[in-house]
Amino acid sequence: MTSLIRFGISLEKGLLYKFDEQLKKRGYTNRSEAVRDLIRESLVKKEWQENKEVSGAITLVYNHHKRELVNQLMDIQHDYHNNILSTQHLHLDEDNCLEIIAIKGRAKQIKELYGKLSSPKGIKHTGFAEATTGNKLL
Ligand code: NI
Repeated sequence: MTSLIRFGISLEKGLLYKFDEQLKKRGYTNRSEAVRDLIRESLVKKEWQENKEVSGAITLVYNHHKRELVNQLMDIQHDYHNNILSTQHLHLDEDNCLEIIAIKGRAKQIKELYGKLSSPKGIKHTGFAEATTGNKLL
């Protein structure tokens, strides 16, 4: 079990007002939980900067009639099979596909994979969500 420590923070009134406004909009009921989340967020950012083991998700939207592109994306995913936890393929309509690729591995490798998946000609949109394995967070 982890022990809780209380500490005080001094900051400008205006800044605190803006912070509280943001908390209200996001649905926080107290400042402590919001500060905890900010700390966790910065720790996860650091994991990515320091090339730690991380997780995340890549999204791709493309036209599946472009067979060359489909093959290219498949080849890249096979090259990085060690980093891919799962790929979900959704047929959005007659032409467009959405792929959601769950990833895990060293940050640099994940970014490299994202770069390769987003560069082929014909990709309509790519998205990237940086997450964590959760191992180093409380
Ligand atoms: Ni499809």
